[in-house]
Amino acid sequence: MSTDIEITLADGVQILRFLRAGKKNAFTGAMYNAMSEALDAAETNEAIAVHVFIGSGGVFSAGNDINDFLRRAEASETGGGQDGIPAPSLDFIARLPKLSKPMIAAVDGLAVGIGTTLLLHCDLIYATPSASLRTPFLDLGLVQEAGSSLLAPERLGYPLAFELICLGEPFSAERALQAGLINAIVPAAELEATALAAARRLVAKPRQALMRSRRLLRQNHTAAISGMIDAEANCYKELMASPEAREAFTAFLEKRPPDFAKVRKAR
Ligand code: COA
Repeated sequence: MSTDIEITLADGVQILRFLRAGKKNAFTGAMYNAMSEALDAAETNEAIAVHVFIGSGGVFSAGNDINDFLRRAEASETGGGQDGIPAPSLDFIARLPKLSKPMIAAVDGLAVGIGTTLLLHCDLIYATPSASLRTPFLDLGLVQEAGSSLLAPERLGYPLAFELICLGEPFSAERALQAGLINAIVPAAELEATALAAARRLVAKPRQALMRSRRLLRQNHTAAISGMIDAEANCYKELMASPEAREAFTAFLEKRPPDFAKVRKAR
């Protein structure tokens, strides 16, 4: 079990708390695995009605750990038989549309990459005034994931989805609220209490009716989202080891801007 994530249960609410603030709560394979196990176990655990995702240290999550992306790119280049999205990440993403219990996100500070696309699978999202949602997939030489190719235009409309995903524009809390990405902006000191209060209100509802209502609202969309997750994952297989992606990963870890022009010239 990873120490970078704390998973607790109280009064029907499973809290998944990211505790890797020193690395801006970037998700490692161990963190993804811990989340997948907890979400799976909850499906058959009557004691859990609702999940709450929350960050720490003033950050929700900086997304996938870029070291893992780089390792994956290197393995695929040396014919290591692995390519595309790292397995723990893809396993986590693949189960998101299939989960039956409501998910709530409490977002303080940065929510990057999967930190934002995870929100598209959540049912209630509360954010602080300092929340900033960003999906810099293209700047990493990659494409969006987690079915966001389908979910983002559906939620935001096409122009805003394109702005978020392709332009990589950060969405402030205010903008995210206007765009319908989040439910409410609450002061940082009240964020957790607000998310937990909503969770407890859901816990008190008739359980079968709650899960059926949620499924109807999501329009039994699972197959379409799962298909899109597969299509996105196929793109990762081609892009992860591309010279641009490798340059983007390396530049981030070397704390310098990427030089895509040099990469293009070297081809
Ligand atoms: N993967 C791995 N490490 C990450 C990370 C990530 N996604 N995001 C942040 N970190 C690490 C940094 O390398 C740094 O480590 P160090 O202290 O050992 O050098 C530490 O977290 C703090 O990050 P830093 O960049 O110094 O903080 P910042 O406040 O200046 O910037 C971010 C924060 C999130 C804007 C910036 O770290 C960032 O752009 N991260 C990458 C986000 C991303 O592209 N995610 C993948 C999306 S698909």
